[in-house]
Amino acid sequence: MGQKKNTSELYVKNLRVAIAEKEIVHGIDLTIKQGELHVVMGPNGSGKSTLTSALMGHPAYTVTADRISLGSKNLLELAPHARAQAGLLLAFQNPLAVPGVTVSSFLHTAYKELHPQKNSTALDFRKQLLVHAVTLKLEATYLRRSLNDGFSGGEKKKLEMLQLLVLEPKFVILDEIDTGLDVDALRLVSEGVKSLQKAGCGILLITHYQRILNYLQPDFVHILTHGQIIRQGGMELVKLIEEKGYAAVCPNF
Ligand SMILES: Nc1ncnc2c1ncn2[C@@H]1O[C@H](COP(=O)(O)OP(=O)(O)OP(=O)(O)O)[C@@H](O)[C@H]1O
Ligand SMILES: [Mg+2]
Repeated sequence: MGQKKNTSELYVKNLRVAIAEKEIVHGIDLTIKQGELHVVMGPNGSGKSTLTSALMGHPAYTVTADRISLGSKNLLELAPHARAQAGLLLAFQNPLAVPGVTVSSFLHTAYKELHPQKNSTALDFRKQLLVHAVTLKLEATYLRRSLNDGFSGGEKKKLEMLQLLVLEPKFVILDEIDTGLDVDALRLVSEGVKSLQKAGCGILLITHYQRILNYLQPDFVHILTHGQIIRQGGMELVKLIEEKGYAAVCPNF
């Protein structure tokens, strides 16, 4: 039958990731279809962000895999910007500030790179950006500020969500998008996740907490410890971890 060719899935087979000659991720398999929400939970240092960096093609990591593909595209052969062009975007756990580059010009440049066929004018794009900013209760003044420069922790997370909403990805990885959000911001960002899902986006959501999942309905929950997925299931795993800690799902923890 050959390899998976479905245009609507992110397919990861036997992903191993090393840094500084130490293997951190030891053979992960994942299949995420468009419109599905997959949650990854795991203790600090278990390899969640390393997994996301490897999927995006961060050059610092040594990656081997039987396959990493998005639809018919072999992501292993693609540089990070080409992976983004293929439709895969990441919301960073710790977004970087870029002084001197405004949110609005950065996002318009990114949009044109990702969707060259759409001929987006600055005015049209700005209108679109404002609609999403209003949804996230980010004032228009934020769009004229330098990217993440002086933004509060919660504002940075909202800005990550704004980027995803406006850039129209096919698949997104959300690395702790909920960390540091107040209750109202958490609800708004959860709405953002839902609207991505509704638009057909496949989502890999990394979190430490049950609270964002009170607003969302994951299709699958994966538990990552020591660089391996050791359990897969649904919300019952999240509840178990919340109540009893990782020892309840991982005997050797
Ligand atoms: N550049 C590096 N050099 C050495 N070790 C590294 C490097 N980058 C990551 N690691 C190690 O890899 C392990 C996994 O880190 P990672 O950031 O993926 O964890 P995580 O699951 O995202 O944790 P958290 O929940 O705290 O965000 C950690 O032990 C970390 O110290
Ligand atoms: Mg992390």
